[in-house]
Amino acid sequence: MRIVFAALLTVFTSLPALAYRVAPVADKVTQTECGACHMVYPAALLPARSWDAITADLANHFGEDASLEQTVVDGIKAYLMANAGDVAGDGRGLIRGLPQDQTPLRITELPMFTRIHGNFSPRTMKKIGVAGNCSFCHQAATKGMFEDD
Ligand code: HEC
Ligand code: HEC
Repeated sequence: MRIVFAALLTVFTSLPALAYRVAPVADKVTQTECGACHMVYPAALLPARSWDAITADLANHFGEDASLEQTVVDGIKAYLMANAGDVAGDGRGLIRGLPQDQTPLRITELPMFTRIHGNFSPRTMKKIGVAGNCSFCHQAATKGMFEDD
């Protein structure tokens, strides 16, 4: 029995992952405010320190003013940090291999992101606009589902 189990385990762990799933954003305010200009990024896609840095300077948010009332920011920050990949997640997935002393402001800057996707061609970029437009290719991205297709 133990041998059968071990064999099964080997089979399952050697199969390529068919889908990567993380929890979707459950907080309504975060959904609304952080989904106003782009898809709502699931909190597990970045470590807590990244969400801390992003919410600390929303007035200078990638060239846009995304500032909000401080009480609203505090709520969003608390939600995102509590559900970050290195807090609520298992520290694996997209943030795997990210050095502790790095605080990326972008998911698309994570080493794993580049490892999975490579660099998008100019032709692809023309279609998607920005690399962070995950939902263009992963239709259920806001639900936290990233299929391998
Ligand atoms: C006023 C519009 C606007 C709002 C509101 C906004 N963003 Fe953004 N966000 C942007 C722009 C513009 C970019 C950069 C797009 C690009 O050039 O790649 C961006 C990029 C990002 C990225 C990096 C995506 C990547 O490339 O990996 C994250 C993470 C992010 N935003 C989080 C948030 C969070 C969290 C909130 C809510 C507090 C928020 N955004 C609200 C406009 C906005
Ligand atoms: C231009 C299309 C495109 C965009 C934009 C894109 N992806 Fe992907 N993504 C893919 C493709 C294609 C694969 C499968 C790559 C492979 O297996 O070689 C993939 C694979 C993945 C995987 C691995 C899935 C698995 O089953 O292991 C994750 C996680 C992922 N993408 C997350 C993201 C996130 C997060 C974003 C946005 C910040 C994003 N992707 C943007 C096309 C895209």
